[in-house]
Amino acid sequence: MADCIEGRTSVRVYKPDPVSEEIVNEGLRLANLAPSAGNLQARDFIVVRDAAVKKDLMRAAYAQEFIRTAPVVVVFCANLERIAHYGERGRELYCLQDAAAAVQNFSLYLHSKGLGSVWVGAFDEAKAAAVLGTPDHVRPVAIVPVGYPAEKGLKRKRLPTQELVHRDRW
Ligand SMILES: Cc1cc2nc3c(=O)[nH]c(=O)nc-3n(C[C@H](O)[C@H](O)[C@H](O)COP(=O)(O)O)c2cc1C
Repeated sequence: MADCIEGRTSVRVYKPDPVSEEIVNEGLRLANLAPSAGNLQARDFIVVRDAAVKKDLMRAAYAQEFIRTAPVVVVFCANLERIAHYGERGRELYCLQDAAAAVQNFSLYLHSKGLGSVWVGAFDEAKAAAVLGTPDHVRPVAIVPVGYPAEKGLKRKRLPTQELVHRDRW
């Protein structure tokens, strides 16, 4: 487990080799095993293989080219209706966390299978929603291009943990 977490890096260059539906489906099943507020699973996954949709998503994401070149792209969404039970906190926080936790499970599983991915958060949400035709209660949260790596992902440094950790109080 620790090896998988340590070994994962963002991957932004992909081989053209296809990514099977089985691996995507299994990744999404595992994604939905992530915790969610009240187990309401206020997240939805849009699997994009259509070249025109990928191109439009790339445009919505400030021309991040790897969205177009990835064999498959999964858009992780927050579902504001499914989280309604928790009111404002549910709509403004929990459903986003539900979606984010799913992204992390998904990317770790993909890495364990030799696939690469990158979490794309920089996009115009209204444009992405229009491209995907999502209803008003569904917010695209992360665009995740997936493919077999054609680059060795850069091992990016982290801050020393002790700079981030606070004990007992801030
Ligand atoms: C919320 C969030 C938004 C991100 N948005 C983008 C993005 O729009 N484009 C991109 O290339 N990478 C994006 N990333 C990936 C980060 O750049 C990357 O995770 C970070 O630099 C650490 O590198 P690593 O994933 O290889 O460990 C995003 C990651 C997160 C968690």
